[in-house]
Amino acid sequence: MKFQLDALEPTLQYKLLAATVVPRPIALVATADEHGNQNAAPYSFFNTMGENPPTLVLGLQEKADGSLKDTTVNIQRSGQYVVHTVDEGIAEAMDLCAAEFPRGLSEAAAAGLTLVPSDRVAPMRIAEAPVAFECERIAMVQVSPGRQIVIGKVLTMHVRDGLIDPDTLRVDTAQYRPVGRLFGTLYCRTGDQFELPRPTYAEWKARQE
Ligand SMILES: Cc1cc2nc3c(=O)[nH]c(=O)nc-3n(C[C@H](O)[C@H](O)[C@H](O)COP(=O)(O)O)c2cc1C
Repeated sequence: MKFQLDALEPTLQYKLLAATVVPRPIALVATADEHGNQNAAPYSFFNTMGENPPTLVLGLQEKADGSLKDTTVNIQRSGQYVVHTVDEGIAEAMDLCAAEFPRGLSEAAAAGLTLVPSDRVAPMRIAEAPVAFECERIAMVQVSPGRQIVIGKVLTMHVRDGLIDPDTLRVDTAQYRPVGRLFGTLYCRTGDQFELPRPTYAEWKARQE
């Protein structure tokens, strides 16, 4: 079976992409408007694209009526935002933040999350999140009138105490418990792990003999 994606309706393109590129990490993105109103919404078109500079990307789609999402408007205006990773503890609160709250109303506060000042950006960060990345926009690529890809640079990273060993900088994966997005309302935990030791070319070659 094959699909020519450019011949399909956007909703079907979304269905095929979002259900096959899984699991996706979830960014709970905090932004602020020009009056200082705090906004938070989850985005699973999200990943890190590398270091030096430490880079995160977000895929911001349009609303059903074709208008821009609050996150898009706020990042376009100020270029500042905070990306939080989502663990099992804040998964439900994250889900509530996806509801279409009226512009200017804080989803994070409604979800019972605590907003605290950030160090280097104006939008506040969510204290309960395991990891918060204070970000500054590098570029915003408009891929269609309502859809943007934001490339951002991390300035400050906050990590919940106990998650990272201060000497080795190793993450305690048993403590972290991030969740991934599958499709629609389906999510996964990250507790079922396996190790894959990477062979060198020489090891592979030796096995052929
Ligand atoms: C787990 C999850 C992931 C989501 N990922 C995205 C995404 O990557 N891009 C997007 O445009 N909307 C995504 N959404 C939908 C937005 O969160 C939703 O449209 C929200 O109301 C936008 O809020 P805002 O207008 O305050 O930015 C996602 C929703 C959920 C629950």
